[in-house]
Amino acid sequence: MSEATIPVRVKQMRREADTVVSVEFETLDGSNLPKAAPGAHVDVILRDDLRRSYSLTRENTAGPTFTVAIHRDPQSKGGSAFVHERLRVGDKVRISRPKNNFPLDETSENSVLIAGGIGITPILAMVRRLTEERRRWEVFYAARSRTAAAFCEELDTCVQASNGKGRVNYHFDDEQRGSLVDIRSIMESNPEAHFYCCGPEPMLAAYEAAAREVPRGQVHVEYFSATEEVARDGGFDLVLERSGKTLHVESGKTILDVLIENNVSVPFSCSEGVCGTCETRVIEGRPDHRDMILTDEERAKGDTMMVCCSGSKSPRLVLDL
Ligand code: FES
Repeated sequence: MSEATIPVRVKQMRREADTVVSVEFETLDGSNLPKAAPGAHVDVILRDDLRRSYSLTRENTAGPTFTVAIHRDPQSKGGSAFVHERLRVGDKVRISRPKNNFPLDETSENSVLIAGGIGITPILAMVRRLTEERRRWEVFYAARSRTAAAFCEELDTCVQASNGKGRVNYHFDDEQRGSLVDIRSIMESNPEAHFYCCGPEPMLAAYEAAAREVPRGQVHVEYFSATEEVARDGGFDLVLERSGKTLHVESGKTILDVLIENNVSVPFSCSEGVCGTCETRVIEGRPDHRDMILTDEERAKGDTMMVCCSGSKSPRLVLDL
């Protein structure tokens, strides 16, 4: 890849909740990092073969540090396990320039932000900004329990600084007897608001369903925190037409994992199906699309796929590689 990355050092790590740590990165020479608006994320290159996207906890207008938050996924064999078990203060890694697929509309008079689990990270950055701008905002934050919820203190500080314009509603599963955040009624009660959602897949599905009646310009969503780190239905043969190679993708590995292991060069960036960098032409076979980019028509056509996260529905997949 020819993308320029930035060398940084881990300045600080802090436990934010049962399974969440925040990691503050600083530049090696004290120079400022690029500007990053609320909702932005960076790719962290933990090792040559391990690259993950994480949201920033606050915007960066001019400063030498970025802070991200990382949930320890019990299924993880990659990014979050590495961060929680191996990464330490003083370690050097590289990061991408910030990217933003989830920008905040700062002109809206009323913002409603819905977060599930680690999805609170970009929402926190937005709340900080909205508080500074003296806008009206309301957060609905769902987590398994109080101790699993990160950044409650920071959110409560924003509420106090908001002069009555900000509010946080916590929804802890273990105190709610199985009831879910009622996204539809939240939207119906705030017809003029801009809505933001970042959380696990079931929450995003409920959000998308509830948002059908809302003008698209008022609906904002961040997908990558909800995607899984690896495709789980491996067990197929991968034929690389141009290289003349046949590889096997085992269960639990992505096509991208297997290509890297076999020194097949393929561009990639987010590793989570949101950036489009790894798009590859399909010559034969039926891809199991798991990205957030292709349209329904493109999926149905099946002649292109994102190899970082998608798998195969057929026992053999032939790619233009
Ligand atoms: Fe971003 Fe595959 S690397 S979509």
